[in-house]
Amino acid sequence: MSAGAIEIKDLRVDYGDFVAVNDISLSVPYGEVFGLVGPNGAGKTSTFRVLATLMEPTYGEVSLAGIDILENTERAREVIGYMPDLAPVPSDLKLWEFLDFHADTHRLGNRKERRARVDECLDIVNLTEKENAWCKALSRGQTQRLVLAKTLMHRPSVMILDEPASGLDPLSRREMRHALQKLAKGGATVLVSSHILTELAEMCSSLCVMNEGNLLASGTAEEVRAKLGKKERSLRATFLAENEAVLRWLRTDSRISEIRADGPDVTFHFVGNDEEQVGFLRTLASGGFGLKAFEEEGSSFEDILVQVAEENRKS
Ligand SMILES: Nc1ncnc2c1ncn2[C@@H]1O[C@H](COP(=O)(O)OP(=O)(O)OP(=O)(O)O)[C@@H](O)[C@H]1O
Ligand SMILES: [Mg+2]
Repeated sequence: MSAGAIEIKDLRVDYGDFVAVNDISLSVPYGEVFGLVGPNGAGKTSTFRVLATLMEPTYGEVSLAGIDILENTERAREVIGYMPDLAPVPSDLKLWEFLDFHADTHRLGNRKERRARVDECLDIVNLTEKENAWCKALSRGQTQRLVLAKTLMHRPSVMILDEPASGLDPLSRREMRHALQKLAKGGATVLVSSHILTELAEMCSSLCVMNEGNLLASGTAEEVRAKLGKKERSLRATFLAENEAVLRWLRTDSRISEIRADGPDVTFHFVGNDEEQVGFLRTLASGGFGLKAFEEEGSSFEDILVQVAEENRKS
C-alpha cells in the first residue's frame, strides 16, 4: 500500500466503548491539497492525531510518503508536518526566534543556514515584515500563519493541518490558501480539515466528508455535492401573480410533491437529476404561467452537511 502520499486502510480509533473513527480508508495522491470536512465530533482530529503519530489507532494501516507510520514511526516523523488546531505560540519570543528555535530542534544546519530557512518560511506565509514582532502581538490569522511556518520548517513532504483556516477572515483565508497551494506545487501533499465545506472547496483539489467516524463521500467538491445531494430537490418558483393554473399543472406531474403556494411564490419537491430539472424548467418557463424567477433551495454544501448530520443522528 504505497501508491499515494497518504494511504489509510481500515483505520479505527476507539475511546473505550466509543468509536470515534470507524474503519476508514483513504488514498491521497502526491502533490494534492486534500480536504477532510465534517461537523464537530466527526473524528477529524482523532484521525489526524494518528497520522501525526501522536496516538496509536485501535487498528488499521497508515503509510505516509511510502513509510508505514506504525512500523517506522521515527522515520515517518521526518516527513510529517503536523499543525494541531489551536496551537499555542510562546509569548516571550520574537517570530524569527521562535522559528529559529524550531529550525535548531530539527538540526537544520548552522546559524546562517537556519536563518535562510526561517526567512523562506516567513516568506511562504507572508510574514516577513513581522519577523521582529513578538509572537504574542500577532492577530489570530497571523498566529495561524506563524504556526504554519513552524510546521513547514523541516520541509515535510506530508502536511497534516487541523483546521488551519478556523477563525480567519476572507483575506487571511485567501493567504492561507495561496500558501498551501504553493507548498503543493513544491511537491508537498497537504491534508487539511475544516467543518466548513465551502472553505475547503476553495482551497482543495479534492475532499472527503466525514461524519460520526465514517467517510461518506470523496472526490471534487462538485462530485461530493452530487453524491450527498438528495435526489429530491426543493425548488421555488416565483410568478408574476398568484397562479391557480400552475398549481393545477404541477399536481399532474408525478415527480412533484409537497406543493406550497404563498401568493406568487410556489415551493415544491422535485425528484429527478440535473437534466430532468432542466427539461422541467424549460416546460414551466414556456407554459405561459408568467414565471419570473426560479431557484433551488436546501442544496448548498452547508445544507447538505446539516442534512447528513441530522440523518445520522436519527438513525
Ligand atoms: N480523548 C478522548 N476521549 C474520549 N473521547 C474522545 C477523545 N477525543 C475525542 N473524543 C470523541 O471522539 C469524537 C471525535 O472527536 P474529534 O476530536 O476527532 O472530532 P473532530 O471532527 O475533530 O471535531 P471538531 O470539529 O469539534 O474538532 C467526539 O465525539 C469526541 O467526543
Ligand atoms: Mg477537531
